[in-house]
Amino acid sequence: MERNPLPHQKIVYVCLNEREAGPCCAAKGSTDIHALLKEAVKTRGLNTKIRVSRSGCMGRCGNGPNVLVFPDGVWYSGVCPDDVETILGEVLQGIA
Ligand code: FES
Repeated sequence: MERNPLPHQKIVYVCLNEREAGPCCAAKGSTDIHALLKEAVKTRGLNTKIRVSRSGCMGRCGNGPNVLVFPDGVWYSGVCPDDVETILGEVLQGIA
């Protein structure tokens, strides 16, 4: 095992979990949110500083789509495509 520093300044986790029954983030459009966030980060050339990553269920399925920003400790729920720029603006705070 190797122990290393984090390779990115921030990681944005987007829940892409999909369930056959019951509420889930994927059914509420989280795949689009994930794609939009990835594209926005890439367009700004921030891929080496900010990682947009897919996550499994984060336990708040009824409130999705859910997005978690590490290490900020910020949790967004009920995210829609129009929220992506607002989220990214907040994620960019503190990026060197
Ligand atoms: S399906 Fe996204 S939090 Fe459970």
